[in-house]
Amino acid sequence: MENNNLPALTKWQAAYIENAYRELETGITRKRIEELGLDARGKAVLDVGCGPGNFLVAVSEDKPKLLVGVDLDDQFLTVAQAELSRRSVKNLMLVKASGIHLPFPDGFFDIVTCFLVLPHVPDDRTALAELGRVLKANGVLAISGHDKGFPLRYLKRLKFKPLLMYLWSLLYAVTGKKWIRNTLQDYRKICACLVEMGFIVDQIALPRKSFGLVETYRIKAIKAK
Ligand SMILES: C[S@@+](CC[C@H](N)C(=O)[O-])C[C@H]1O[C@@H](n2cnc3c(N)ncnc32)[C@H](O)[C@@H]1O
Repeated sequence: MENNNLPALTKWQAAYIENAYRELETGITRKRIEELGLDARGKAVLDVGCGPGNFLVAVSEDKPKLLVGVDLDDQFLTVAQAELSRRSVKNLMLVKASGIHLPFPDGFFDIVTCFLVLPHVPDDRTALAELGRVLKANGVLAISGHDKGFPLRYLKRLKFKPLLMYLWSLLYAVTGKKWIRNTLQDYRKICACLVEMGFIVDQIALPRKSFGLVETYRIKAIKAK
């Protein structure tokens, strides 16, 4: 995945990578895996929207049979490849692809994860269906995303952006179309969608709330058929 002609990282990308690797070093990323009860030992694992490879590094401790990371962003993929190589992560493949058109056959993976990516895809249902397609029956899907309390956390720092996030999220609810990245979600709707698609929702973690509203949700679901 090496490409020396990439533009410099944006401020956002650099800050994201720094924070992601800090969470990795302090064990937060691994703790999230354990909290969801993900056990990747000897499994085929796909991480969609792998970003700088933080989750891939953490899950590699389980020694999966196959570890595949997918992202659309060349810069994140390059950073991820460098970090995973530096750590000599085995049985790894990084692929540039979209989470809504995955280049893998039906029922290929035992575990599919997709953390903090759904807020950025054009439609939640389409993305969930594609994640489910590549998962084996009885396979595990683990996802996370931002719910209505998320912007409140950043209200002071980002000024009007949180309010815009509410506006775009409202537009998505009314029109079914996402207008910008970072559209907020409602974890109950995501769960309902999963159940409709034949998943059993096994765990829901709602670790933080702002003013009583969920900031980030994490869901583990089993593909029942
Ligand atoms: C907020 S980052 C999350 C990175 C990592 N999963 C984590 O939890 O730290 C969102 C990632 O999703 C990627 N992404 C956004 N839309 C995508 C899509 N349609 N298909 C694949 N990756 C996508 C972005 O490039 C970015 O790396």
